[in-house]
Amino acid sequence: MDSFSSAFLFLFYSCFLLTSAGYSVVQASPLHHHHHQRREEHEAYDHGFRRRPTKLFVFGDSYADTGNIRKSLGNSWKDPYGTTFPGKPAGRFSDGRILTDYLAKFLGVKSPLAYAWMKLGGKKLRNGLNFAYGGSGVFNTLGDLLPNVTTQIDFFEKLINDALYTKRDLQSSVVLVCLAGNDYAAYVLKDGSIEGLQRFIPQVINQLTLDLKRIKALGATKVAVTSLEPLGCLPRMTQMSGFQQCNITQNLAVGYHNFLLQQAVDKLNNETRTSTFFILDLYTSFTSVLEQKGDSQGILKFETPLKPCCMGISTGYWCGSLDDKGAKMYTVCSDPKSAFFWDASHPTEAGWHAVYTNLKSSLEQNLKLY
Ligand SMILES: *[C@@H]1O[C@H](CO)[C@@H](O)[C@H](O)[C@H]1NC(C)=O
Ligand SMILES: *[C@@H]1O[C@H](CO)[C@@H](O)[C@H](O)[C@H]1NC(C)=O
Ligand SMILES: *[C@@H]1O[C@H](CO)[C@@H](O)[C@H](O)[C@H]1NC(C)=O
Repeated sequence: MDSFSSAFLFLFYSCFLLTSAGYSVVQASPLHHHHHQRREEHEAYDHGFRRRPTKLFVFGDSYADTGNIRKSLGNSWKDPYGTTFPGKPAGRFSDGRILTDYLAKFLGVKSPLAYAWMKLGGKKLRNGLNFAYGGSGVFNTLGDLLPNVTTQIDFFEKLINDALYTKRDLQSSVVLVCLAGNDYAAYVLKDGSIEGLQRFIPQVINQLTLDLKRIKALGATKVAVTSLEPLGCLPRMTQMSGFQQCNITQNLAVGYHNFLLQQAVDKLNNETRTSTFFILDLYTSFTSVLEQKGDSQGILKFETPLKPCCMGISTGYWCGSLDDKGAKMYTVCSDPKSAFFWDASHPTEAGWHAVYTNLKSSLEQNLKLY
């Protein structure tokens, strides 16, 4: 944990340097001509997406996984996960619905089937597929037990080569790429150095950029990429402060990742002269729900938003843990609807609902559905 601490402290400083350098570059070259061009292309796109998207394809990790992770690897297949929806553990890292489900709802499609259950698919494959595996990153995070994003795209590419999906299907699809920080968790576990982390964050962004390019090359025309949520606000980070406050230092470091990500996405759109990629800003939406202790409309309320609903009774135990005799070694709050976080890292269904409410205007703006 110590090298982790100093690494983030280091980033806290370099982040400021890079951010201010980045801004001054932008201000120095307004690129009027370019902006004008982009607007025209955007309008052209608006006419291009005439019908509602019919499919959703998903890549990433536990913030998006709806049942891919193997039962032996994911506590998402154990009680009390899934109690709100679908009523039993079914692979979602929450008590109920997660980001994938809310995005599907927004698009008016059924939440896509998890790729691992494809054989049961039939007509359900019409809604797209979900290739996200809890715990994954752009790089390998747990040996090669979990498919990284490259491998997830390989799965997809194979289905396209087998003509299960066509390029035309992709033109009427939305793609979600959702990564919540497993590359960094794995890096810290491997005892990476400070100097290394300074190089590692850009490496993550570079690999993610390659992945995004591949997804576009397969034919995708609308790709939502999540920014990193405020890692310093996750219960696993705030536990030491009794779930009282977010770790600002860590959140500023997350800002460095998100800054590079925004730059990469802008560059990709510019290079391809499209508005294919847009950021789904988990950082801002999480932060505003946590600060407002609820959603923007005041319908959902989280009195102690940093405290998770489900947690292990002591260190070494977590939500879903059992002892040798099968006794529960965790506690669950009486009303998951009143908690933003479900476990040490993941929002509840109500939490995702509130985040989704905040993301809606960005989705409307970027997806222009008629
Ligand atoms: C916040 O995180 C940093 C870096 O991990 C650590 O050095 C610091 O002790 C943390 N602060 C609190 C209040 O937990
Ligand atoms: C993704 O996983 C595969 C299989 O383990 C591995 O060969 C490949 O190098 C990984 N890709 C990246 C970018 O780490
Ligand atoms: C956008 O792309 C053009 C050439 O395709 C390049 O000259 C320009 O610098 C790029 N702008 C940004 C902001 O990346």
